Amino acid sequence: MTADVDDLLKQLTLEEKASVLTGQDFWSLPAIEKIGLRSLVMSDGPIGVRGTGWAPDDPSIALPSPTALAAAWDRELAETAGRLLGQEARRKGAHVLLGPTVNLQRTPLGGRHFECYSEDPLLSGEIAVGFVRGVQDHGVGTTVKHLVGNDFETDRMEVDVRIGDRALRELYLAPFERVVEAGGWGLMSAYNSVNGTSMASNGTFQDDILKGEWGYDGVVVSDWRAARSTVGAALGGLDIAMPKLENPWGPALVQAVREGTVPESAIDEKVRRVLLFAQRVGALDGGPAVTPPADLDGDAVAHEVAARSFVLVRNEGFTLPLEPAALTRVAVIGALAIDARVLGGGSAQVSPPHTISPLEGIGRALSGVDVEYAIGADPRPFLPAARGPQWSSASLEINSRDFPLDATAVRWIGSLPGGIDPEEVDRLVLKATFTPDETGEHTFAVSGFGNFRFTVGDEVIFEGSLHRPGATRGELLLNPREHRAGVLLSAGVAVPVVLEQTLQRGMAHTVATTLGHRGPAPDADGMIEEAARLAAESDVAVVVVGTTEQVESEGFDRTSLALPGRQDELVARVAAANSRTVVVVNAGSPVLMPWADDVAAILLTWFPGQEAGAALADVLLGVTEPGGRLPTTWPRREEDCPVLAISPRDGVVSYDEGIFIGYRGWLRSGNTPLYAFGHGMGYTSWDYDDIAVDDTEAVVTLTNSGARAGREVVQVYLAPLSPDADRPERWLAGFANVFARPGETVTVRVPLPPRSFQIWADGGWQTVPGDYRVIAAHAIDADRLEARLTV
Ligand code: BGC
Repeated sequence: MTADVDDLLKQLTLEEKASVLTGQDFWSLPAIEKIGLRSLVMSDGPIGVRGTGWAPDDPSIALPSPTALAAAWDRELAETAGRLLGQEARRKGAHVLLGPTVNLQRTPLGGRHFECYSEDPLLSGEIAVGFVRGVQDHGVGTTVKHLVGNDFETDRMEVDVRIGDRALRELYLAPFERVVEAGGWGLMSAYNSVNGTSMASNGTFQDDILKGEWGYDGVVVSDWRAARSTVGAALGGLDIAMPKLENPWGPALVQAVREGTVPESAIDEKVRRVLLFAQRVGALDGGPAVTPPADLDGDAVAHEVAARSFVLVRNEGFTLPLEPAALTRVAVIGALAIDARVLGGGSAQVSPPHTISPLEGIGRALSGVDVEYAIGADPRPFLPAARGPQWSSASLEINSRDFPLDATAVRWIGSLPGGIDPEEVDRLVLKATFTPDETGEHTFAVSGFGNFRFTVGDEVIFEGSLHRPGATRGELLLNPREHRAGVLLSAGVAVPVVLEQTLQRGMAHTVATTLGHRGPAPDADGMIEEAARLAAESDVAVVVVGTTEQVESEGFDRTSLALPGRQDELVARVAAANSRTVVVVNAGSPVLMPWADDVAAILLTWFPGQEAGAALADVLLGVTEPGGRLPTTWPRREEDCPVLAISPRDGVVSYDEGIFIGYRGWLRSGNTPLYAFGHGMGYTSWDYDDIAVDDTEAVVTLTNSGARAGREVVQVYLAPLSPDADRPERWLAGFANVFARPGETVTVRVPLPPRSFQIWADGGWQTVPGDYRVIAAHAIDADRLEARLTV
């Protein structure tokens, strides 16, 4: 294989070599026909394959968020998710899926917390390995990302993250190392600097550790616009600089070689890696392009992962599962019950073929029952895009071409509908016909950037821009604004709604415009009253609460863990009105739940993907059990978190807590969280019968002692027998996901990796001899059996 690559390399000029290392547009590298190299196409990642095209005309399966995948604690399920996305990537012509994200959940305020797997490096690494194997099975590459220290969003392009060697090795690098060891072909470096050097140019990590020590033979791709130095990145171990915009390579790299600041051998080494990668993904003539059949049903996988990821953290008096035959009236409450957040914001967004809301899912599953809805509280600061039967012929006009729309929102990055060149676009028109089914004041809203003219019927309801003149691209994208106006309309009378947008030439590469609508509604107090009344008259109340796109997203960190708007008040009022209140939390990361002890049940559903409501109905009604366990600790109070705020000081964030993040930090402080790492209940019960250990594995026998088939996640923790201030009180060493029928006894073997007994000290891995407790547990705070081991 390598010999071929070397032959091909010899046929390339310096210019050609530099070109294959440099983005030719937003998502791809150039083809070089004379050596049979096709254009390598990349796509985000990691919950679906957006592709390079305009999303609505080419929808993508949207799986649950990565936190959800980790909550299933099942490497095989992660592999299935990966296989589905490999299949999706092939369908969309992408060779590379930009993910998975294995940065750690160091603080629950991290904006991309939802996109990472866990606060624990072992769980993160195992889920990532499953996912990467699944994608690569289809001959599609991944880029495990973002190496390293991109565990928060504030000033992510500029910030210098100071991390000690021990925390780097034992925590932050560990999932990357695991993926490299398992044979991952691609990796993405981070925006930030670590210990003084920008990651795109950081030879210590990209060359010495990754390619040297770990023997990595894949490619290192920059994060988008992270490479900012021609020579620094070339000598610092980066292989591919993306995208074309503001790229420091291309001709500048050629010049650097000619001037002698970058040796041509360094370029050759990068090109060799790119060619090997191309060979692996079938983008080089003669390379292996054998892929398994595309036989996975995307909707079914999305459904399964969702149900397997939901974490039942509270279930007083076996409120769940609900017994349909015993129900006559069910109240479904909350803005997110009709407009669930199925995925997190930023580059992880895709446009799914459909989404099933909680109300729709529950309504379908309970066809003989009276299912009533009340909004209760609306935390969304922006009105949702308009869709549904009252809206007809929604379309987008660009350069005199019309494209149909399912909802009145337009979003793209890089590629426009119909392959239109973004440089040619300076005007868009979003249009639809609205036939209200209620008379009264309807609220219309516009968000996006550029200049607008917004009309409803003959009335101009807004004209102008929402941002200051000269606002930067970053400000425009990350600080969206909205303007609202009320219009009196009569039921049954159709009106044209037209939103014209003019953009400066060159600004149409990224567009995010929404035409929002809300029908006549009571005021905020009235909405809560109405919901409480409905709950009081129902057998059970299901309240869906959660975060919004303005609270949790790539691009910024959260400022508070509280639920936005008046959702806490809503839950408290509903719970007071109906003792059978089930709260469904639709958030990608921990939120505070001041009402947690007052409600009957709490089900955490993360960002559950396109099948949200269908999976929710199955779990609520016991068609399947909730399979999730917490991959991260949920606090009762913000101030108890071992690491919370992220505020760079003089451009620096120091990880002073060392290795004490997540449960490692909670155990050290002695604070008790609301729900501990690993917690979560199913619908059956388990007896742990026996544990046997040696220094390579724990063998655990357990019996399903309940009346239903079910799954248990057997968690194995190691704890030094004599406390050691330098090490956590205990840590996760392995886990296994087991299924058993009622009464069935199963035995699982949980490997204990040598690293579990090691620390990073004096520049290397050192086994710490001594006596250990090996604990088989249901959660970190729920021990079941233990054995002793001397190492
Ligand atoms: C994100 C990456 C993503 C890339 C391409 C960046 O802003 O940090 O995770 O893959 O954009 O969309």
